[in-house]
Amino acid sequence: MNKDQIINIKNQAISAILEAKSKKDLETLRINYLGRKGQFSNLLKEIVKIKPEERGEFGKTINFNKNAVSQALEAKLSSIAVQEKTIFFDTTIPGDKPPTGHLHLITQTINEIIEILEKIGFAKFSYPEVEWDWFTFEGLNMPKNHPARDEWETFFIENLESQEYGKAVLTPHTSNGQLREMLRAKKPPIRMLNIAKCYRRQVDVSHAPMFTQFEGLLIDKNINITHLKGTLDYFVKQYFGEDRETRIRPFHFQFTEPSFEIDITCIICKGRGCKVCKEGWLEIGGAGMVHPTVLKNGGINPDDFSGFAWGWGVERLMMMKYSVDDIRLLFNGDLRFLNQF
Ligand code: PHE
Repeated sequence: MNKDQIINIKNQAISAILEAKSKKDLETLRINYLGRKGQFSNLLKEIVKIKPEERGEFGKTINFNKNAVSQALEAKLSSIAVQEKTIFFDTTIPGDKPPTGHLHLITQTINEIIEILEKIGFAKFSYPEVEWDWFTFEGLNMPKNHPARDEWETFFIENLESQEYGKAVLTPHTSNGQLREMLRAKKPPIRMLNIAKCYRRQVDVSHAPMFTQFEGLLIDKNINITHLKGTLDYFVKQYFGEDRETRIRPFHFQFTEPSFEIDITCIICKGRGCKVCKEGWLEIGGAGMVHPTVLKNGGINPDDFSGFAWGWGVERLMMMKYSVDDIRLLFNGDLRFLNQF
């Protein structure tokens, strides 16, 4: 016996292992090479035939090569196991579909509003959300310290003030867009849609400190209240359904004259009166004919042009359509609620 013989046996064993196709082939090879009566055992038995001083060296060589065979066998066994799994993999079973998301319902509502108003020529614009006092209040006919300002519980920004336009605020309504658009467009006709985040110091089931408003502004020659009523009628019927009616109710805003609040018929009783609405109507938001002072502040001559504006809450609109009674549901990210839309 010599070392080459041992290495040959190892090489034969490994190449047979690599060729093996099944667990059964491998078991035969294991018995043949590594078993009690296998080739490596036989080699060990023959060790008595060689000189005593060389036996230790031979023993080591035999064990080293036997280990190499045993490792190759284990490796092949696990690769066959993987293959078998793959063979039994049924490609016709439908896979697990990863969950797909969708746009948040506020975004959906915004897109719907844009689509409805684009059809009658309103174009969406964006203006600063951190805005100066003048565009928010003063230019809208609410001088400093005017009590009307109290209605907009405004967040003022500390240490940021413009010489010309006053303090910086987080927009408490989208009406800053009226002045911004008049000064941008310079000349009517104007058909502006401003959809933006608004901020007020208020929290309860129907008010969040951050919410969304959409403001429409139309200025042209000979615009009167019938245009306002017709536009808002159209919008309400498109958004809520053909069976909803609108009415305008006198109100007061400093930046419109006359000013209105708009009501729509209750979805439950369709205007007859019920527990929810009391007398058949639900308030949806403010509107009015643009005040001559505001037109002047926007660089437009009130003798030549007139216009109307409205500013409504996006969340409120959506909540009225789907009878959602807590605004916090729209903001807390609970998928059990959001997935319904
Ligand atoms: N800015 C008013 C509000 O926040 C709504 C409004 C807009 C009213 C335009 C009249 C005209 O309540």
